[in-house]
Amino acid sequence: MDFIEELRTLKEQLMFEHKFNVPKTTKNVVIAGMGGSGIVGKIFTELYSSLPVYLVDDYSAPDFVSKETVYIAISYSGNTEETVSSLQEAIRKGANTVAITSGGKLLDMSHQRVVIPKGLQPRSALGYMLTPLLKSFGAVQQHEFKEAYDLLSRIDANHHEEEQIAHDIYVSEKVPVIYGVPPYKAVAYRWKTQFNENSKILAYSGSLPEINHNDTMALKGTYRRDEFYFIALTDGRNNTVERRIGITENITGIKFRRIKVEGKSALARVMAAVHIGDYITYHLAKLRGKDPLDVGVIEELKERLQESTGTQ
Ligand code: F6R
Repeated sequence: MDFIEELRTLKEQLMFEHKFNVPKTTKNVVIAGMGGSGIVGKIFTELYSSLPVYLVDDYSAPDFVSKETVYIAISYSGNTEETVSSLQEAIRKGANTVAITSGGKLLDMSHQRVVIPKGLQPRSALGYMLTPLLKSFGAVQQHEFKEAYDLLSRIDANHHEEEQIAHDIYVSEKVPVIYGVPPYKAVAYRWKTQFNENSKILAYSGSLPEINHNDTMALKGTYRRDEFYFIALTDGRNNTVERRIGITENITGIKFRRIKVEGKSALARVMAAVHIGDYITYHLAKLRGKDPLDVGVIEELKERLQESTGTQ
């Protein structure tokens, strides 16, 4: 499957029906994962806040983990050493464990597992990894998946604007800086990682209102300011935060390329925002003559780690 075909599967991934059991006694949730699997937890927390959710992106498990914790390890390959190690620690602490994976070591470690289809890049399997979380915690309603499906289909059918943005970035050779208004903070980070892995360029992300307490100083005063391509990711609904975009532009003199996502439900808008970024970064890869599928450097790094420690 080439990369654009992988992208087109995202909408179908939202129809994935597998769930796991969340005991009524659950007091808190931990989601562990790295890279394209780690982004799943970040996006989940934009859509769910009924229980406290703690994210792990290293080898450990937090001190508070107990038998009242649902500990979800997400790794597409099932072999990422940070996630495997963190799950091992959670098992030692007596957590109720779940693995979301297509195979590998994680499969046989946890109490429950959701096995997802193989054959994709981890970052292209976002829907397969996110949907079981949303469904198991009842975070969104069934009709929202259908709306998201329809919205993603429309983007699949027409991504001309995304191609144009990729072209602007390509011609200008600017470094993308993506700021997300809630609930698009995780999506802004997803765009950053997709620029890294698909387009093979550095990018930077942040969120509003937080950047008004730090980045804003640099936006006004930094050197080489013209070398950055500023993007504001928003849906125009959060007036309290929205007004900050214009004021930030006025004070600092920078201009944001606003990406305004449409859609009734938060799930549909968040997934549409993800997909817009997927296509921009795909088109930029093509313009740069890079293979968006290639993650050779990440693989080499994992191989070298394996050689040195016997794990992956
Ligand atoms: C590759 C990718 C990477 C991986 C990461 C963790 O497409 O997106 O960021 O997701 O190296 O590997 P997994 O997902 O197998 O745990």
